[in-house]
Amino acid sequence: MNENNVESILHEERLFPPSAEFSTKARIPNRAALDSLIQVANKDYVGFWAKQARAELSWHQPFEITLDSTNAPYYQWFNDGELNVSFNCLDRHLKDKGDKIAIIFEGESGDRTTLTYQQLHQRVCRFANVLKAQGITQGDRVVIYLPMVPEAVIAMQACARIGAIHSVVFGGFSAESLKDRIEDTEAKFLITADGGYRGGRIIALKAAADRALKSGCKSIQGVIVLRRTGHSISMITERDLWWHEAETGISSHCDPVWLNAEHPLFLLYTSGSTGKPKGIQHASAGYLLGTITTMKWVFDIRDEDIFWCTADIGWVTGHSYVTYGPLAVGATIVIYEGAPTFPDSGRFWKICQDHGVTVFYTAPTAIRALMKAGDNIPAAYNLSQLRLLGTVGEPINPEAWMWYHRVIGGGHCPIVDTWWQTETGVHMIAPIPGVTTAKPGSCTFPLPGIDIAVVNAQGQPITAPDQGGYLVITKPWPSMIRTIWQDKQRYYDTYWRKFDGKYYLSGDSARRDEEGYFWIMGRTDDILNVAGHRLGTMEIESALLAHPKVAEAAVIGRPDDIKGEAILAYVTLKETCSIGDKALIIELRDWVADQIGAIAKPDEIRFVDNLPKTRSGKIMRRLLRSISRGETITQDTSTLESETILTQLQEKN
Ligand code: WT7
Repeated sequence: MNENNVESILHEERLFPPSAEFSTKARIPNRAALDSLIQVANKDYVGFWAKQARAELSWHQPFEITLDSTNAPYYQWFNDGELNVSFNCLDRHLKDKGDKIAIIFEGESGDRTTLTYQQLHQRVCRFANVLKAQGITQGDRVVIYLPMVPEAVIAMQACARIGAIHSVVFGGFSAESLKDRIEDTEAKFLITADGGYRGGRIIALKAAADRALKSGCKSIQGVIVLRRTGHSISMITERDLWWHEAETGISSHCDPVWLNAEHPLFLLYTSGSTGKPKGIQHASAGYLLGTITTMKWVFDIRDEDIFWCTADIGWVTGHSYVTYGPLAVGATIVIYEGAPTFPDSGRFWKICQDHGVTVFYTAPTAIRALMKAGDNIPAAYNLSQLRLLGTVGEPINPEAWMWYHRVIGGGHCPIVDTWWQTETGVHMIAPIPGVTTAKPGSCTFPLPGIDIAVVNAQGQPITAPDQGGYLVITKPWPSMIRTIWQDKQRYYDTYWRKFDGKYYLSGDSARRDEEGYFWIMGRTDDILNVAGHRLGTMEIESALLAHPKVAEAAVIGRPDDIKGEAILAYVTLKETCSIGDKALIIELRDWVADQIGAIAKPDEIRFVDNLPKTRSGKIMRRLLRSISRGETITQDTSTLESETILTQLQEKN
């Protein structure tokens, strides 16, 4: 961003207060209850977190030191305490909830299984013993490359039980990405499967793993292979071991290893704007605490809930809200293996109906894709059990929010729009569903104990409403990133240097409206500069998405001699619309000018069949910029959902 603040052009006036029915039963039932939490946190945030950590976690050795800032910004939390994350997720529920269902699993082809807490505990213990028998000990790295099956959770929990540091690689990533991550972590073991099901096809995980290991990965001593699809694969005798064979004769009793609160729990790679992916390193106690408090405050989780977070365990969302948070609070979760559109766009809604899902959490990209399929698909299912909906991953445009609210939530479910990052570990800005009045498109307010500001380039808070700036976190928090694996300097440079170690730089731009609501405007790298006006991509995209014919939109800046940057919009249309003509281009340009002002009117609109997205559904605007400028593509395109998208986009130039 340059020195100017980002201008806001989007205005949203619809308000959605929670219903009395929801609030009465909520964990945080009213403003007074929320305010008292916030006041305690504001007065003494360290003391606030100490109290939460003592109340919510089971400690083997209680901590005395809450926050150690000696080496700030390499902060440490609770670091003279000891606990075990897997003990906190499993063992402590056995007495009261041993027979409660922990996991309801549905495979893509419809196979179903369930695991009670007792059964899950046994399976985790047995697999932890398998890892130990293979010589894996505390501090060793284990890479997990599995489909979305219960064994993925079991493998992660088993690592946590013995203090091995897991690094999950999303099953959709290529052999090359897998290899990079194995080499960066210097992992000792790889856990994979013959394959998984997605979109009616088999994803050949073992074959990709073989390719990754063939070209390097010297640290790998062995591979454990889960049989999922049963199709034929090659096993290398000295190196590869079937999961089920490795478990033969292995005990299901395994004492947890008591670990320092700061012991690394996992590494998870995220791509930076440049250079190789960063291994985001999280610690144990602080991270787990954040998952628990947000499960309670934001998801309002109750004993009888059926909680479904659709994220794959390859993303942080799948770590915090599939593997760790829900189990730590003893909830029942749903895990689904396959694609949201298999065999048709009703699959998510069918799963919600069949398993009685009460709290549902997904990404705006999925919502827009399912919305594109029309209202009569969800209308065919009984979604009346749903009581709370959530979104994460990108700003949700108000039209998608309204659809989610009306069609999926039947008009009665609060929506929690949760802003956070791989680095923050858990939700940072989100509504408290029984208290906060929602505004479609706003993630509302920071959570108790979390201090967030919008600042200008000099680090001064922007006080005027609707002026965009850098979104920063101004105090350390328990679930924060500890460092970038093997790269302390990059951790400092990426997140702290900009404001001299004082603020954590999120990389997002945001504004606050006159009532203090936070609105995320996009990544700071994506900001446009049009005739001296700094505009976020998100607001122009939202305006386009509000047009009845538009399904998806991505806005980028193209160099322009006169205006500095001209606005170029890539647009996909709803299924029911034929490909756009000149008249529609004019209509859409005028529509944006009408909705938000002439300054934001796109100079050019290109219709495409698909937008380039990462596997987690984020639009790759930087890639679109390179394409529109005719530059050679230097970005990692292996994470693209489909490579053919590239060719089509290049043809449009
Ligand atoms: C980036 C972090 C957090 C888990 C999944 C993504 C964007 C995330 C929201 C939201 C607007 C959002 C931000 C953020 N983002 N949630 N509710 N509203 N933007 O994790 O891959 O680390 O991405 O996703 O740009 O910085 P991630």
